[in-house]
Amino acid sequence: MTNDELKVHELRTLKAIAETLNSANDIHTMLNDVLKEVLSLTKLEAGWIYLIDEKGNYSLAADYKLPEALCIESKKPMCEGGCWCLDRYNDGRLKRAANIIECKRLEDAVEFEWGDTRDITHHATVPLLAGDERFGLLNVASPHKNRFVEKELALLEGIAYQIGTALKRIALTQKEQESALLAERNRLAKDLHDSVNQLLFSISLTAGGTKEMTEDVQVKEMLDYIQGLSKEALSEMRSLIWQLRPQGLEEGVGTALANYGKVLGLTVQVDVKGVLQLSFSTEEALWRIGQEALNNCSKHSETEEIAIVITGNPSYVSLEIHDDGKGFQYNEDQPRLTFGLTSMKERAESLNGTFQVTSAANQGTTIYIQIPLKREGM
Ligand SMILES: Nc1ncnc2c1ncn2[C@@H]1O[C@H](COP(=O)(O)OP(=O)(O)OP(=O)(O)O)[C@@H](O)[C@H]1O
Ligand SMILES: [Mg+2]
Repeated sequence: MTNDELKVHELRTLKAIAETLNSANDIHTMLNDVLKEVLSLTKLEAGWIYLIDEKGNYSLAADYKLPEALCIESKKPMCEGGCWCLDRYNDGRLKRAANIIECKRLEDAVEFEWGDTRDITHHATVPLLAGDERFGLLNVASPHKNRFVEKELALLEGIAYQIGTALKRIALTQKEQESALLAERNRLAKDLHDSVNQLLFSISLTAGGTKEMTEDVQVKEMLDYIQGLSKEALSEMRSLIWQLRPQGLEEGVGTALANYGKVLGLTVQVDVKGVLQLSFSTEEALWRIGQEALNNCSKHSETEEIAIVITGNPSYVSLEIHDDGKGFQYNEDQPRLTFGLTSMKERAESLNGTFQVTSAANQGTTIYIQIPLKREGM
């Protein structure tokens, strides 16, 4: 290729990369596609991308032409243990594209004879950034290549910024979809409230009114039955509507739970200690867990007095729901056919939190969850 043809090829590939990053909505497909394009542009042979969360947990999000030694046991050497590029990324030293002296994973591969490394020993490593946010690492390598020149690193850095920006865009789109879902749930809650709820209320009223108009005992009984059923449906519907709209959250999760308790006919004492500065997902988790705990109190505890304590401090938020009711035997490991306790536990754990039940026959029940809070800048 002449110099001019090379330039055109480079620009075409850069355009293809920009297009891939611009149009994608699925992170894994996007990263795999863009990685192939980056390697074709830089004439390098192999590459991989790690996505890394705020806590330093990493996952292999894309890879291309990894040497056989790194692919053994479903790419286990790529998915476990630490390495120098991750260490540098995590301790904040890696701010720009860098030559990595040697790759620890490849060194291990040679030492423990995992297989062919195709003479790849070193790689360049580039952080994926968008503004102050960090998403992970792009690593590229070629056989016998142990140094990357400034021009190569600058090009990789430019592309890594584009990848970072695309990752940020996708994260924002997902957030937007979540808030659209929330709006839809609010709409559904309102519609249910205005239509089905009002109809059920009319049925209950009509049954009550008609009862007064007849002397027939059998008919009276039937109307009583209809009135009872519609009241039951009405209260189920009310609780459903409440579960659909976390709108009450505007005044904080404590107020929302107290109000939800009222809907269920419970007397709820709420005590909020400390200052609560919660992300949307943590607040929603507390709200959903609290709702199910209150549902359980109302369905099973045989008491109406509930005490809730919410404690916030810089490192965690906790929620305790206590009733002095009939209690039950709780065994964490026992498989369950019901959803309530399991989904409360799963919700807490999905945010790296803990879930505890303390209960015994006639000694009441306490549900305690604790969710760690991310600190600014981490
Ligand atoms: N506060 C409570 N007081 C007494 N028993 C309780 C309490 N909470 C839970 N239980 C017992 O634990 C069981 C499991 O609760 P879980 O919430 O998982 O299921 P559920 O409420 O029966 O059904 P659902 O799947 O609709 O929640 C209940 O059936 C009940 O026997
Ligand atoms: Mg339940």
